Amino acid sequence: MLAAIARVCDSQSFILGPEVEALEREIAALTGAACAVGCASGTEALWLALVAAGVTPGDSVITTAFSFFASASAIVRAGATPVFVDVDPGTLNLDAALVHSQLQDRQLQDRHLRDRQLRTKRPENLRAILPVHLYGQCADMNAFDCLAQEFGVAIVEDAAQAIGAEWSGRGAGSLGVTAAFSFYPTKNLSAYGDAGIVTTNRPEMAEHMRQLRNHGSPRRYYHHEFGWNGRMDAIQAAVLRVKLGHIANWNRRRQQHAATYDRLFAESGLTSGPASNRTSNQTSGQISNQLNPPVRLLARSPQAKHVFHQYVIRAQRRDELRKFLADRKIGSEIYYPLPLHLQPVFSYLGLKAGDLPVSEKAAREVLALPMFPELTEAEIQSVVESIAEFYS
Ligand SMILES: Cc1ncc(COP(=O)(O)O)c(C=O)c1O
Repeated sequence: MLAAIARVCDSQSFILGPEVEALEREIAALTGAACAVGCASGTEALWLALVAAGVTPGDSVITTAFSFFASASAIVRAGATPVFVDVDPGTLNLDAALVHSQLQDRQLQDRHLRDRQLRTKRPENLRAILPVHLYGQCADMNAFDCLAQEFGVAIVEDAAQAIGAEWSGRGAGSLGVTAAFSFYPTKNLSAYGDAGIVTTNRPEMAEHMRQLRNHGSPRRYYHHEFGWNGRMDAIQAAVLRVKLGHIANWNRRRQQHAATYDRLFAESGLTSGPASNRTSNQTSGQISNQLNPPVRLLARSPQAKHVFHQYVIRAQRRDELRKFLADRKIGSEIYYPLPLHLQPVFSYLGLKAGDLPVSEKAAREVLALPMFPELTEAEIQSVVESIAEFYS
């Protein structure tokens, strides 16, 4: 790592340049997208992805209410209005069936408002859908593909947590029109500071984003539109290129740890098992009431290659459990304690508690347990034993 950083210092090329270009080629290859554009953060990547996908001031973009704030604030920064839709209760990813209803409702409203001849298939101003691949598992991209075709909207992936993830064998980042990744220091592939990247299969969109990240400037000191300074540092690219060689192995180890957690939870009798891998001969049930187990695991989509940015459970008496674990020096985190539609800054949208009940319930129950490549089986065992002790 130090050698890579020294290489940048020796070159004196600190912003963009050959390191960033090399990283762009390598990330494009990893995701299966044709192009990648390095930028300053995942938040910046989302803004670039939305603007390149055609989102303009006055538009609306459908997204999940259960994500990090940037999924929605980037929509606002593009001048558009977020339309929050609830999540699937199993995976906690944006619920495609609810998005479909939302699109149909809007189409009906348009039909009343607009002259038949002017009416387009796409609900007025509804430009894009932004699914988030939450915790490292892709949202239902088959369903979103169908919606994109039926309603003529763009799909922009928030793949910030999903580097290396796949849907039906295709890489996250190659599934939408554009996709945003974050290299924030806690991510599976992380920089030594802030950094992000956007991927796309459309070279013209990549070119647009290269200009936008550099003050809308195709040529030095000539500006065609209002961009911003969203450039990536070469030192971050150099660090990321070293780590990139390890990401497949690190993701594999995360998957192994998740399988160990699943197995130990099943053996503990705390859970009724994740929706897709419940075993029929599960007999331990001293703690678990099969209808209302104290711990529930999230569902895994069979089409998804999950990279377990987080291993998240849904827990009864979640906050007490978290304190119990903290007292035993076991770290945990809540992603996310308040859904986006209830954030004070979005009160102007007029949504209230009870409007998106699945997200609201998830916010009360989710708990992310320790998850990183170097985790040992003994450590996982001690986490699950401590949870069992709490509920015993
Ligand atoms: C789902 C999601 N979207 C967007 C972001 C924003 O990324 P960054 O922190 O690099 O700006 C993050 C990470 O923080 C994230 O988890």
